[in-house]
Amino acid sequence: MQPTTTGTEPFVLAHADAAFANDPYPIYRRLRDTAPLSRQPDDSVFLSRYDDVRAVITDAERFSSDKHVDFLPKFGQSPLYEHHTNSLVFNDPPAHTRVRRLLQPFFSVQAMRRMEAGVAANVDDLLDRAAERGVIDVMSEFAVIIPLNLVCDLLGVPPPEREPLRHWASMILGGLEPVRTPEQLAAGNQAVLDFKAYLRDLMADKRRRSIPSDAPDVLDTLIREHDGGVGLAEDEILHSAIFMLNAGHDTTTSFITNGIDLLLRFPDQRARLAADPSVLRSAVEEMLRYESPLQIGNRKAKVDCDIGGERFPAGTFFHLGIGAADHDERQFPDPEAFDIARNPNRHIAFGHGIHFCAGNAVARMEASLAFGKLLARFPNFERAGPTVRPPRWRFRIIDELKVELKA
Ligand code: HEM
Repeated sequence: MQPTTTGTEPFVLAHADAAFANDPYPIYRRLRDTAPLSRQPDDSVFLSRYDDVRAVITDAERFSSDKHVDFLPKFGQSPLYEHHTNSLVFNDPPAHTRVRRLLQPFFSVQAMRRMEAGVAANVDDLLDRAAERGVIDVMSEFAVIIPLNLVCDLLGVPPPEREPLRHWASMILGGLEPVRTPEQLAAGNQAVLDFKAYLRDLMADKRRRSIPSDAPDVLDTLIREHDGGVGLAEDEILHSAIFMLNAGHDTTTSFITNGIDLLLRFPDQRARLAADPSVLRSAVEEMLRYESPLQIGNRKAKVDCDIGGERFPAGTFFHLGIGAADHDERQFPDPEAFDIARNPNRHIAFGHGIHFCAGNAVARMEASLAFGKLLARFPNFERAGPTVRPPRWRFRIIDELKVELKA
């Protein structure tokens, strides 16, 4: 059964097809209007209205993020299971509170400001190289490199060693898609093993060289805290480092690539932004709303609960349609209009509540520099190929988008 735009048959997330990956919004609209609490064959429920998604994502008392039980049939006792169940985002308090408190300082506004100059230099350098080429794939030659370098700088991964990390992150996240092939699972498991082995070597190397007391990177700090008897356990450091790359990499890549795609699809808005860079801040928010990089989150009810006027028993698994919620006409007037000055714009692309994206300021900074500098230098950039999307639904990914750079 395929989910269709106009059909009356039930929407089944596990049967979603390439058409859904290309443009899920007509189906989201049908769901919001006709089946906002869409029952799935396994008794889980897909939520598509803003109020319902936001109510669940915000309420950590009644809705759990802990995946120790749900991921076991999905991953078995495997490296992917070990990694995801050790990730901050898939844990509840008190485990979540402890790890979030230890990681939070790395994402403060001051820390973000320290990263800014490095990101700006990286963007300038990428645009210099792009100018020489004339036509580039903005995914692989621009968007993907900015967050990869940022997270690698944070972790202290030397530049020549960065390339495999990008592949590992994609393989590990691919394992979280609602539908996965055995090959995807095998690649995800291998990626966790390879990534952990690499980080163990990196940490050993850092310990050998003794950790600098001025300007330590995140890994330096976590090692020092651990060796001092406070902080995260050794395995928690490995999984937090992997999670940081996973959380900050594909999402931000997708944010930047989708933003460029939107500027190509809506030339009037692009011209408006190029003419008035002061709207950049709200333009970035509108891009996050319009193509939310994480489209589908999830939670499990800890107790019996009422959602959207219906009663659900404890244990109900909810798919949170963040992408659907961010197009809900009940919250956003004329939601299919891409309006870079939209105000108010209370999108939930970064979630809400205790799991609210720790890296939101960092992602906003990276994207602002990417769009601001691209437009300042090449205001007339043009599409040089189609927007190619993979058949993935949880993340709003673009695999390829060729652009001709024109001043
Ligand atoms: C546009 C880019 C990004 C988007 C759309 C995004 C989205 C999200 C969302 C929706 C959540 C909450 C998930 C939930 O409630 O279940 C989250 C959590 C998180 N994100 Fe991001 N993220 C982005 C970039 C980043 C970056 C750049 C970093 C770090 C370098 C980062 C680090 C984190 C962390 C550590 C969490 C876990 C927070 C917690 O569980 O307490 N994210 N992100």
